[in-house]
Amino acid sequence: MDVTWLMLLFSVYLAECVPEKPKRSALNQLTRTLLRTYDCGVRPVHNWTSHTTIHIDLILQSVLDVDGKTQSMTTNIWYRQVWTDEFLVWDPEEFDGITEISLSSDAIWIPDVIVSEFVDEGKSPSIPYVYVNSSGSVKNNRPMQVVLACSLEMYAFPFDKQNCSLTFRSWLHSVKEIDLALLRSAEAIANDQKEFMNDGEWELLSVPSRYWQIHQDDTDYAQIQFNVLIRRRPLLYVVGLLIPSIFLMLVDVISFYLPLNSGTRIAFKISILLGYTVFRVNLTDELPSTAVRTPLIGVFFAVCMAMLMLSLIKSILVVKLLHHSEKEVKQFSVSACLLDKYSSAGQEFTESALTSLKTLEFINPSGGETHAPKFMSQG
Ligand SMILES: *[C@@H]1O[C@H](CO)[C@@H](O)[C@H](O)[C@H]1NC(C)=O
Ligand SMILES: *[C@@H]1O[C@H](CO)[C@@H](O)[C@H](O)[C@H]1NC(C)=O
Ligand SMILES: *[C@@H]1O[C@H](CO)[C@@H](O)[C@H](O)[C@H]1NC(C)=O
Repeated sequence: MDVTWLMLLFSVYLAECVPEKPKRSALNQLTRTLLRTYDCGVRPVHNWTSHTTIHIDLILQSVLDVDGKTQSMTTNIWYRQVWTDEFLVWDPEEFDGITEISLSSDAIWIPDVIVSEFVDEGKSPSIPYVYVNSSGSVKNNRPMQVVLACSLEMYAFPFDKQNCSLTFRSWLHSVKEIDLALLRSAEAIANDQKEFMNDGEWELLSVPSRYWQIHQDDTDYAQIQFNVLIRRRPLLYVVGLLIPSIFLMLVDVISFYLPLNSGTRIAFKISILLGYTVFRVNLTDELPSTAVRTPLIGVFFAVCMAMLMLSLIKSILVVKLLHHSEKEVKQFSVSACLLDKYSSAGQEFTESALTSLKTLEFINPSGGETHAPKFMSQG
């Protein structure tokens, strides 16, 4: 009894679930019609002698990293390419008025246009669709992260400008098969800074572009080059590197006012030098390192270090000289006193010795041995 009841319920449930055969949607029908005879490995032209023109466009979104050591730049760009596929044409009237559809990018022909300076694909998300309209115009937009090889000029760091280029070309197809063109006007691309994240270290100046054909192995290849011109914002480095360094130098100069005799000045100078060394060790990460030319700021730091060393050496020499001369003067004055007492013949010499004693007293009124003559302490 229970079992038959259950079976009855189940059959009702099944009957509800099995749908009547659905009518294909217009979208589905159109996709099937377009792709039924499509071969995604064949360049989509009716006459093989005609070339396919790829219109490309580039919007610079951000500059993530500029690495002097590996001579590379990491950027995020929004890349757009538009071309005409002569096989993806339909009449919107026949398909419910559909004028545009998205198709899987694996199912249709995609040009092999790449950036020739790339050294790393980066982390680009893959977009699985392209957009096609009824006249066969295919839109392929995708965000890309590209790591570019770029010859960086670090000499003027942190006041440097960089010029890195992105050259788009078909890696295999000659200009007879694939030609390139710009989607927007060159001026519009050059001055488009709407999407650029302008709060970072780099300021976008412009992105000029040009088209030309290169000749390789008896074949002409079309290529479009975008030059990304960026300028570094130096404030961070001025505040973090230059100003502290200049402060340390100032303190070092002021330390000449410290009394020389007590040895504090040398100790002070050594601690400044030590401080500067620590500062330099911290700084090695921040400085761009290029093998070819040292940035000017590196030379500046080396000169600062050299000046600190020199001022330390000078102080040491002056202390040495002072002790030496103090001893000499003392010996000399003792002998002069002796001469004064026991000799009556050397009148002239005694006079001069007396003068020198007086001078010594004049310079050093307290008569203490530890005080240095004034002109020495400017050392
Ligand atoms: C292809 O185009 C060329 C010139 O554009 C023309 O001479 C040639 O006849 C065409 N071939 C076919 C098969 O239509
Ligand atoms: C398809 O797109 C191209 C370029 O975006 C445009 O020129 C053309 O008019 C469009 N065709 C239709 C039927 O909308
Ligand atoms: C940037 O470099 C390219 C070639 O690499 C050069 O043609 C262009 O003139 C340079 N632009 C500037 C502003 O230096």
